[in-house]
Amino acid sequence: MNILVIGTGYVGTTTALVFAEMGWKVTGLDTDQQKLNQLQNGILYFHEPGLKELLIKHNSSGQLQFTSNKKEAIQKSDVIFICVGTPSRPDGSADLSYVKQVAEDVAYHMNGYKLVVNKSTVPVGTQEKVTEWISESNRHAHPYDVASNPEFLREGKALEDSLHPDRIIIGTKSDRAAKLLQQLYSSMTCEIIETTPRTAELIKYASNAFLATKISYMNELSRLSDRLDVDIREVAKGMGLDLRIGSRFLQAGIGYGGSCFPKDVSALQQTAEENGMKLQILEQVVNVNKSQYLYMLDKAKKKLGDFAGKKAAVLGLAFKPDTDDIREAPSLRLIQDLLGQQATVHLYDPIAKLPASFTHDHLTVASMAEDVFKEADAVFICTEWTMFQELDWKSIHPQMKQPNLFDGRNMLDAKTMKSFGYYYEGIGYK
Ligand code: UDX
Repeated sequence: MNILVIGTGYVGTTTALVFAEMGWKVTGLDTDQQKLNQLQNGILYFHEPGLKELLIKHNSSGQLQFTSNKKEAIQKSDVIFICVGTPSRPDGSADLSYVKQVAEDVAYHMNGYKLVVNKSTVPVGTQEKVTEWISESNRHAHPYDVASNPEFLREGKALEDSLHPDRIIIGTKSDRAAKLLQQLYSSMTCEIIETTPRTAELIKYASNAFLATKISYMNELSRLSDRLDVDIREVAKGMGLDLRIGSRFLQAGIGYGGSCFPKDVSALQQTAEENGMKLQILEQVVNVNKSQYLYMLDKAKKKLGDFAGKKAAVLGLAFKPDTDDIREAPSLRLIQDLLGQQATVHLYDPIAKLPASFTHDHLTVASMAEDVFKEADAVFICTEWTMFQELDWKSIHPQMKQPNLFDGRNMLDAKTMKSFGYYYEGIGYK
Protein backbone atom coordinates (compact mmCIF):
# COMPACT_ATOMS: atom_id res chain seq x y z
CA MET A 1 0.00 0.00 0.00
CA ASN A 2 1.34 3.43 -0.93
CA ILE A 3 0.51 6.17 1.51
CA LEU A 4 0.39 9.85 0.72
CA VAL A 5 0.38 12.46 3.44
CA ILE A 6 -0.75 15.87 2.22
CA GLY A 7 0.58 18.68 4.39
CA THR A 8 4.00 18.27 5.97
CA GLY A 9 3.29 20.42 9.00
CA TYR A 10 3.63 19.09 12.50
CA VAL A 11 0.91 16.41 12.29
CA GLY A 12 1.65 15.49 8.66
CA THR A 13 5.38 15.07 9.16
CA THR A 14 4.84 12.97 12.28
CA THR A 15 2.18 10.85 10.54
CA ALA A 16 4.45 10.27 7.55
CA LEU A 17 7.39 9.28 9.74
CA VAL A 18 5.32 6.92 11.88
CA PHE A 19 3.81 5.15 8.86
CA ALA A 20 7.32 4.78 7.40
CA GLU A 21 8.46 3.33 10.73
CA MET A 22 5.53 0.89 10.58
CA GLY A 23 6.95 -0.35 7.27
CA TRP A 24 4.74 1.42 4.73
CA LYS A 25 5.94 3.35 1.69
CA VAL A 26 5.12 6.97 2.34
CA THR A 27 5.19 10.20 0.35
CA GLY A 28 4.88 13.61 1.98
CA LEU A 29 3.35 16.27 -0.29
CA ASP A 30 3.46 19.99 0.32
CA THR A 31 3.41 23.22 -1.66
CA ASP A 32 6.08 24.79 0.54
CA GLN A 33 9.34 24.01 -1.26
CA GLN A 34 11.50 25.33 1.55
CA LYS A 35 9.89 22.93 4.03
CA LEU A 36 10.34 20.07 1.56
CA ASN A 37 14.01 20.89 0.98
CA GLN A 38 14.65 20.83 4.70
CA LEU A 39 12.83 17.53 5.23
CA GLN A 40 14.59 15.96 2.24
CA ASN A 41 17.89 16.97 3.81
CA GLY A 42 17.02 15.45 7.17
CA ILE A 43 16.31 18.81 8.79
CA LEU A 44 13.30 18.80 11.09
CA TYR A 45 12.09 22.40 11.07
CA PHE A 46 10.28 22.07 14.41
CA HIS A 47 11.34 20.66 17.75
CA GLU A 48 10.02 17.20 18.58
CA PRO A 49 12.07 14.57 20.43
CA GLY A 50 12.96 11.45 18.41
CA LEU A 51 11.59 12.55 15.05
CA LYS A 52 14.82 13.78 13.52
CA GLU A 53 16.38 10.34 13.89
CA LEU A 54 13.40 8.75 12.11
CA LEU A 55 13.58 11.35 9.36
CA ILE A 56 17.23 10.60 8.66
CA LYS A 57 16.60 6.84 8.90
CA HIS A 58 13.68 6.76 6.48
CA ASN A 59 15.07 9.32 4.05
CA SER A 60 17.89 6.88 3.47
CA SER A 61 15.84 3.64 3.78
CA GLY A 62 13.77 4.78 0.80
CA GLN A 63 10.53 4.27 2.80
CA LEU A 64 9.87 7.96 2.73
CA GLN A 65 10.04 10.72 0.16
CA PHE A 66 8.91 14.30 -0.07
CA THR A 67 7.58 16.07 -3.14
CA SER A 68 5.59 19.03 -4.40
CA ASN A 69 4.37 17.14 -7.48
CA LYS A 70 0.66 16.72 -6.74
CA LYS A 71 -0.21 14.70 -9.84
CA GLU A 72 2.49 12.07 -9.46
CA ALA A 73 2.02 11.80 -5.68
CA ILE A 74 -1.76 11.40 -5.88
CA GLN A 75 -1.68 8.97 -8.78
CA LYS A 76 0.73 6.52 -7.18
CA SER A 77 -1.02 6.48 -3.80
CA ASP A 78 -3.71 4.17 -2.42
CA VAL A 79 -4.46 5.95 0.84
CA ILE A 80 -4.29 9.73 1.10
CA PHE A 81 -4.11 11.40 4.52
CA ILE A 82 -5.22 15.02 4.75
CA CYS A 83 -3.00 16.69 7.34
CA VAL A 84 -3.35 20.35 6.40
CA GLY A 85 -4.07 23.15 8.84
CA THR A 86 -7.58 24.14 9.91
CA PRO A 87 -6.97 27.55 11.49
CA SER A 88 -9.62 29.35 13.54
CA ARG A 89 -11.68 32.05 11.89
CA PRO A 90 -12.35 35.20 13.92
CA ASP A 91 -15.70 33.71 15.08
CA GLY A 92 -13.95 30.57 16.42
CA SER A 93 -15.10 28.25 13.62
CA ALA A 94 -12.54 26.17 11.70
CA ASP A 95 -11.39 27.46 8.31
CA LEU A 96 -11.57 24.49 5.94
CA SER A 97 -10.18 26.17 2.83
CA TYR A 98 -6.95 24.12 2.87
CA VAL A 99 -8.95 20.89 3.27
CA LYS A 100 -11.16 21.91 0.34
CA GLN A 101 -8.11 22.60 -1.82
CA VAL A 102 -6.77 19.12 -1.07
CA ALA A 103 -10.14 17.52 -1.93
CA GLU A 104 -10.14 19.36 -5.26
CA ASP A 105 -6.54 18.39 -6.01
CA VAL A 106 -7.25 14.73 -5.25
CA ALA A 107 -10.37 14.79 -7.44
CA TYR A 108 -8.53 16.47 -10.27
CA HIS A 109 -5.59 14.06 -10.40
CA MET A 110 -7.05 10.75 -9.27
CA ASN A 111 -6.59 7.81 -11.63
CA GLY A 112 -8.48 5.03 -9.82
CA TYR A 113 -9.84 4.15 -6.36
CA LYS A 114 -8.48 6.34 -3.54
CA LEU A 115 -9.18 6.26 0.14
CA VAL A 116 -9.01 9.82 1.44
CA VAL A 117 -8.58 10.05 5.20
CA ASN A 118 -8.98 13.16 7.28
CA LYS A 119 -6.44 13.45 10.07
CA SER A 120 -6.72 17.20 10.48
CA THR A 121 -9.06 18.21 13.31
CA VAL A 122 -12.23 19.16 11.48
CA PRO A 123 -15.78 20.05 12.47
CA VAL A 124 -18.44 17.38 12.57
CA GLY A 125 -19.79 16.91 9.06
CA THR A 126 -16.50 17.55 7.25
CA GLN A 127 -16.27 13.99 5.91
CA GLU A 128 -19.53 14.69 4.08
CA LYS A 129 -18.22 18.00 2.79
CA VAL A 130 -14.97 16.43 1.52
CA THR A 131 -17.02 13.70 -0.19
CA GLU A 132 -19.04 16.41 -1.95
CA TRP A 133 -15.99 18.48 -2.90
CA ILE A 134 -14.31 15.45 -4.47
CA SER A 135 -17.50 14.47 -6.23
CA GLU A 136 -17.87 17.96 -7.76
CA SER A 137 -14.41 17.82 -9.40
CA ASN A 138 -14.22 14.06 -10.10
CA ARG A 139 -14.20 14.35 -13.90
CA HIS A 140 -13.77 10.64 -14.63
CA ALA A 141 -16.08 9.39 -11.86
CA HIS A 142 -13.34 7.33 -10.21
CA PRO A 143 -14.41 5.41 -7.10
CA TYR A 144 -13.28 6.80 -3.73
CA ASP A 145 -14.07 6.80 -0.05
CA VAL A 146 -13.57 9.49 2.56
CA ALA A 147 -12.87 8.45 6.14
CA SER A 148 -12.14 10.23 9.40
CA ASN A 149 -9.18 9.09 11.49
CA PRO A 150 -8.45 11.77 14.10
CA GLU A 151 -5.01 12.28 15.57
CA PHE A 152 -4.55 12.41 19.34
CA LEU A 153 -0.79 12.95 19.65
CA ARG A 154 0.63 15.48 22.06
CA GLU A 155 3.45 17.83 21.14
CA GLY A 156 6.67 16.79 22.81
CA LYS A 157 5.41 13.17 22.96
CA ALA A 158 4.41 12.77 19.33
CA LEU A 159 6.45 9.67 18.63
CA GLU A 160 5.39 7.81 21.76
CA ASP A 161 1.73 8.75 21.25
CA SER A 162 1.75 7.75 17.57
CA LEU A 163 3.54 4.45 18.00
CA HIS A 164 1.64 3.49 21.16
CA PRO A 165 -1.74 5.25 21.02
CA ASP A 166 -4.45 4.66 23.65
CA ARG A 167 -6.94 4.03 20.84
CA ILE A 168 -7.40 4.42 17.10
CA ILE A 169 -10.66 5.86 15.83
CA ILE A 170 -11.78 4.99 12.33
CA GLY A 171 -14.89 6.69 10.99
CA THR A 172 -16.03 5.30 7.65
CA LYS A 173 -19.13 4.70 5.62
CA SER A 174 -17.81 1.74 3.60
CA ASP A 175 -16.40 -1.72 4.34
CA ARG A 176 -13.67 -1.20 1.78
CA ALA A 177 -12.38 1.88 3.59
CA ALA A 178 -12.67 0.24 7.02
CA LYS A 179 -10.73 -2.82 5.84
CA LEU A 180 -7.95 -0.71 4.33
CA LEU A 181 -7.54 1.28 7.53
CA GLN A 182 -7.63 -1.90 9.65
CA GLN A 183 -4.84 -3.27 7.46
CA LEU A 184 -2.86 -0.07 7.75
CA TYR A 185 -2.99 -0.19 11.56
CA SER A 186 -2.74 -3.99 11.88
CA SER A 187 0.57 -3.79 13.77
CA MET A 188 -0.96 -1.61 16.52
CA THR A 189 -1.91 -3.31 19.75
CA CYS A 190 -4.46 -0.80 21.06
CA GLU A 191 -8.21 -0.97 20.55
CA ILE A 192 -9.46 0.19 17.16
CA ILE A 193 -12.93 1.71 17.27
CA GLU A 194 -14.90 1.66 14.05
CA THR A 195 -17.66 4.19 13.89
CA THR A 196 -19.38 6.71 11.66
CA PRO A 197 -17.33 9.66 10.36
CA ARG A 198 -19.47 12.13 12.35
CA THR A 199 -18.86 10.20 15.56
CA ALA A 200 -15.12 10.04 14.89
CA GLU A 201 -15.03 13.78 14.28
CA LEU A 202 -16.93 14.50 17.49
CA ILE A 203 -14.74 12.11 19.53
CA LYS A 204 -11.71 14.25 18.69
CA TYR A 205 -13.30 17.54 19.78
CA ALA A 206 -15.02 15.98 22.78
CA SER A 207 -11.72 14.49 23.99
CA ASN A 208 -9.74 17.72 23.74
CA ALA A 209 -12.54 19.77 25.28
CA PHE A 210 -12.82 17.29 28.14
CA LEU A 211 -9.08 17.48 28.84
CA ALA A 212 -9.30 21.28 28.79
CA THR A 213 -12.23 21.00 31.22
CA LYS A 214 -10.18 18.84 33.59
CA ILE A 215 -7.45 21.50 33.60
CA SER A 216 -9.77 24.46 34.12
CA TYR A 217 -11.60 22.60 36.87
CA MET A 218 -8.32 22.01 38.71
CA ASN A 219 -7.26 25.59 38.07
CA GLU A 220 -10.43 26.94 39.60
CA LEU A 221 -10.02 24.56 42.55
CA SER A 222 -6.43 25.79 42.95
CA ARG A 223 -7.79 29.24 43.76
CA LEU A 224 -10.05 27.73 46.41
CA SER A 225 -7.16 25.62 47.72
CA ASP A 226 -5.14 28.81 48.28
CA ARG A 227 -7.96 30.25 50.36
CA LEU A 228 -8.35 27.04 52.34
CA ASP A 229 -4.61 26.63 52.80
CA VAL A 230 -4.71 23.25 51.04
CA ASP A 231 -2.13 21.86 48.58
CA ILE A 232 -3.87 21.36 45.20
CA ARG A 233 -1.21 18.81 44.19
CA GLU A 234 -2.28 16.54 47.04
CA VAL A 235 -5.93 17.08 46.16
CA ALA A 236 -5.11 16.03 42.58
CA LYS A 237 -3.26 12.97 43.78
CA GLY A 238 -6.10 11.91 46.04
CA MET A 239 -8.64 12.46 43.29
CA GLY A 240 -6.59 10.85 40.57
CA LEU A 241 -6.32 7.50 42.30
CA ASP A 242 -10.03 7.06 41.67
CA LEU A 243 -9.91 5.20 38.36
CA ARG A 244 -13.10 6.94 37.26
CA ILE A 245 -11.24 10.25 37.44
CA GLY A 246 -7.71 9.25 36.42
CA SER A 247 -4.53 10.92 37.58
CA ARG A 248 -3.55 12.72 34.38
CA PHE A 249 -4.40 16.29 33.40
CA LEU A 250 -5.13 17.36 36.92
CA GLN A 251 -2.09 19.62 37.21
CA ALA A 252 -3.01 23.14 38.20
CA GLY A 253 -0.98 25.92 36.62
CA ILE A 254 -1.32 29.18 34.69
CA GLY A 255 -3.61 27.61 32.11
CA TYR A 256 -3.51 25.56 28.95
CA GLY A 257 -2.22 26.83 25.63
CA GLY A 258 -1.07 25.28 22.38
CA SER A 259 -2.49 24.83 18.94
CA CYS A 260 -5.21 22.39 19.96
CA PHE A 261 -7.10 23.03 23.18
CA PRO A 262 -8.00 26.72 22.67
CA LYS A 263 -8.87 26.19 18.99
CA ASP A 264 -10.78 22.94 19.46
CA VAL A 265 -12.79 24.14 22.43
CA SER A 266 -13.84 27.19 20.48
CA ALA A 267 -14.67 25.14 17.36
CA LEU A 268 -16.85 22.79 19.43
CA GLN A 269 -18.65 25.76 20.96
CA GLN A 270 -19.20 27.11 17.46
CA THR A 271 -20.59 23.76 16.29
CA ALA A 272 -23.02 23.78 19.20
CA GLU A 273 -24.13 27.32 18.38
CA GLU A 274 -24.66 26.42 14.74
CA ASN A 275 -26.92 23.68 16.02
CA GLY A 276 -28.94 25.99 18.20
CA MET A 277 -27.40 25.44 21.62
CA LYS A 278 -24.68 26.71 23.96
CA LEU A 279 -22.16 24.45 25.68
CA GLN A 280 -22.33 26.11 29.07
CA ILE A 281 -19.56 24.15 30.74
CA LEU A 282 -17.09 25.00 27.98
CA GLU A 283 -17.91 28.69 28.31
CA GLN A 284 -16.61 28.58 31.88
CA VAL A 285 -13.65 26.38 30.90
CA VAL A 286 -12.53 29.17 28.58
CA ASN A 287 -13.19 31.90 31.15
CA VAL A 288 -11.15 30.16 33.86
CA ASN A 289 -8.33 29.54 31.40
CA LYS A 290 -8.24 33.17 30.25
CA SER A 291 -7.97 34.48 33.79
CA GLN A 292 -5.62 31.88 35.24
CA TYR A 293 -2.36 33.66 34.33
CA LEU A 294 -3.87 36.82 35.82
CA TYR A 295 -4.33 34.91 39.04
CA MET A 296 -0.55 34.51 39.23
CA LEU A 297 0.02 38.14 38.27
CA ASP A 298 -2.36 39.24 41.03
CA LYS A 299 -0.37 37.23 43.57
CA ALA A 300 2.76 39.07 42.43
CA LYS A 301 1.03 42.43 42.47
CA LYS A 302 -0.09 41.90 46.05
CA LYS A 303 3.50 41.16 47.02
CA LEU A 304 5.26 43.82 44.93
CA GLY A 305 2.65 46.55 45.14
CA ASP A 306 3.20 47.80 41.63
CA PHE A 307 5.09 46.50 38.56
CA ALA A 308 6.26 49.91 37.32
CA GLY A 309 10.06 50.01 37.25
CA LYS A 310 10.31 46.45 38.61
CA LYS A 311 12.37 43.76 36.95
CA ALA A 312 10.62 40.48 36.19
CA ALA A 313 12.53 37.33 35.27
CA VAL A 314 10.31 35.05 33.17
CA LEU A 315 11.31 31.40 32.85
CA GLY A 316 9.64 29.53 30.02
CA LEU A 317 7.89 30.76 26.92
CA ALA A 318 6.67 27.54 25.23
CA PHE A 319 3.07 26.51 26.01
CA LYS A 320 4.51 23.37 27.59
CA PRO A 321 7.95 21.71 27.89
CA ASP A 322 9.72 19.80 25.11
CA THR A 323 8.32 21.95 22.36
CA ASP A 324 9.24 25.24 20.71
CA ASP A 325 5.56 26.00 20.14
CA ILE A 326 4.37 29.27 21.64
CA ARG A 327 0.88 29.34 20.16
CA GLU A 328 -1.62 30.55 22.79
CA ALA A 329 1.08 30.22 25.45
CA PRO A 330 -0.03 31.94 28.70
CA SER A 331 3.55 33.26 29.03
CA LEU A 332 2.92 35.63 26.11
CA ARG A 333 -0.06 37.28 27.79
CA LEU A 334 1.84 37.47 31.05
CA ILE A 335 4.82 39.16 29.39
CA GLN A 336 2.56 41.59 27.54
CA ASP A 337 0.78 42.54 30.77
CA LEU A 338 4.04 43.00 32.67
CA LEU A 339 5.40 45.25 29.92
CA GLY A 340 2.07 47.08 29.76
CA GLN A 341 2.43 47.84 33.47
CA GLN A 342 5.93 49.30 32.93
CA ALA A 343 7.92 46.35 34.22
CA THR A 344 11.22 45.31 32.65
CA VAL A 345 11.13 41.69 31.50
CA HIS A 346 14.10 39.35 31.16
CA LEU A 347 12.98 36.16 29.45
CA TYR A 348 14.59 32.75 29.04
CA ASP A 349 13.36 29.59 27.29
CA PRO A 350 15.71 26.76 26.31
CA ILE A 351 14.15 26.33 22.84
CA ALA A 352 11.12 28.50 22.12
CA LYS A 353 11.62 31.91 20.53
CA LEU A 354 9.53 35.04 20.42
CA PRO A 355 8.31 36.07 16.96
CA ALA A 356 10.54 38.77 15.42
CA SER A 357 7.61 41.21 15.61
CA PHE A 358 7.41 40.85 19.41
CA THR A 359 9.86 43.52 20.55
CA HIS A 360 9.80 46.05 23.35
CA ASP A 361 12.40 48.42 24.79
CA HIS A 362 11.96 46.84 28.20
CA LEU A 363 12.17 43.22 27.02
CA THR A 364 15.41 41.26 26.90
CA VAL A 365 15.74 37.64 25.81
CA ALA A 366 18.61 35.84 27.53
CA SER A 367 20.57 32.99 26.02
CA MET A 368 21.22 31.42 29.43
CA ALA A 369 18.77 30.94 32.29
CA GLU A 370 21.38 32.23 34.75
CA ASP A 371 21.32 35.65 33.03
CA VAL A 372 17.80 36.67 33.98
CA PHE A 373 17.99 36.86 37.77
CA LYS A 374 20.37 39.73 38.48
CA GLU A 375 18.56 42.52 40.38
CA ALA A 376 15.19 40.91 39.63
CA ASP A 377 12.19 41.71 41.83
CA ALA A 378 10.34 38.53 40.94
CA VAL A 379 10.74 35.30 39.00
CA PHE A 380 7.74 33.90 37.11
CA ILE A 381 7.86 30.26 35.97
CA CYS A 382 5.57 29.78 32.97
CA THR A 383 6.74 26.41 31.54
CA GLU A 384 7.89 23.40 33.53
CA TRP A 385 11.15 22.69 31.67
CA THR A 386 13.10 20.14 33.75
CA MET A 387 16.18 22.34 33.61
CA PHE A 388 14.46 24.94 35.80
CA GLN A 389 14.35 22.36 38.58
CA GLU A 390 18.08 21.85 38.19
CA LEU A 391 19.03 25.54 38.50
CA ASP A 392 21.18 26.43 41.48
CA TRP A 393 18.38 28.27 43.30
CA LYS A 394 20.51 28.74 46.40
CA SER A 395 23.06 30.85 44.58
CA ILE A 396 20.43 32.65 42.51
CA HIS A 397 18.77 34.03 45.66
CA PRO A 398 21.45 36.61 46.59
CA GLN A 399 21.55 37.91 42.99
CA MET A 400 17.95 39.06 43.16
CA LYS A 401 16.86 42.43 44.44
CA GLN A 402 13.77 40.85 46.00
CA PRO A 403 13.69 37.04 46.14
CA ASN A 404 10.07 36.54 45.03
CA LEU A 405 9.34 33.30 43.23
CA PHE A 406 5.98 32.76 41.50
CA ASP A 407 5.87 29.21 40.21
CA GLY A 408 3.10 29.02 37.61
CA ARG A 409 3.61 25.28 37.14
CA ASN A 410 4.09 24.12 40.74
CA MET A 411 7.38 22.56 39.69
CA LEU A 412 9.69 23.59 42.54
CA ASP A 413 9.62 22.35 46.10
CA ALA A 414 8.10 25.12 48.22
CA LYS A 415 9.84 24.06 51.43
CA THR A 416 13.30 23.98 49.84
CA MET A 417 12.77 27.35 48.17
CA LYS A 418 11.62 28.91 51.44
CA SER A 419 14.63 27.41 53.21
CA PHE A 420 16.83 29.31 50.71
CA GLY A 421 15.03 32.51 51.72
CA TYR A 422 12.60 32.92 48.86
CA TYR A 423 9.07 34.18 49.10
CA TYR A 424 7.50 31.28 47.18
CA GLU A 425 4.00 30.92 45.75
CA GLY A 426 2.75 28.32 43.36
CA ILE A 427 -0.81 27.92 42.13
CA GLY A 428 -2.88 26.35 44.90
CA TYR A 429 0.44 25.46 46.53
CA LYS A 430 2.81 27.43 48.73
C1 UDX B 1 -3.34 18.18 23.06
C2 UDX B 1 -3.96 16.79 23.34
O1 UDX B 1 -3.41 16.26 24.56
C3 UDX B 1 -3.70 15.85 22.18
O2 UDX B 1 -4.36 14.61 22.42
C4 UDX B 1 -4.24 16.51 20.91
O3 UDX B 1 -4.03 15.70 19.79
C5 UDX B 1 -3.59 17.87 20.69
O4 UDX B 1 -3.84 18.68 21.84
P1 UDX B 1 -0.91 19.25 23.16
O5 UDX B 1 -1.59 20.54 22.84
O6 UDX B 1 0.30 18.87 22.39
O7 UDX B 1 -1.92 18.02 23.00
O8 UDX B 1 -0.48 19.32 24.69
P2 UDX B 1 -0.97 18.74 26.08
O9 UDX B 1 0.09 17.91 26.65
O10 UDX B 1 -2.30 18.12 25.97
O11 UDX B 1 -1.05 20.09 26.94
C6 UDX B 1 -1.91 21.15 26.57
C7 UDX B 1 -1.85 22.28 27.56
O12 UDX B 1 -2.42 21.91 28.78
C8 UDX B 1 -0.42 22.75 27.90
O13 UDX B 1 -0.40 24.16 27.91
C9 UDX B 1 -0.18 22.19 29.27
O14 UDX B 1 0.72 22.98 30.02
C10 UDX B 1 -1.57 22.24 29.86
N1 UDX B 1 -1.78 21.26 30.94
C11 UDX B 1 -1.75 19.92 30.67
C12 UDX B 1 -2.04 21.68 32.24
O15 UDX B 1 -2.08 22.90 32.51
N2 UDX B 1 -2.27 20.75 33.20
C13 UDX B 1 -2.26 19.43 32.96
O16 UDX B 1 -2.50 18.64 33.90
C14 UDX B 1 -1.98 18.99 31.65
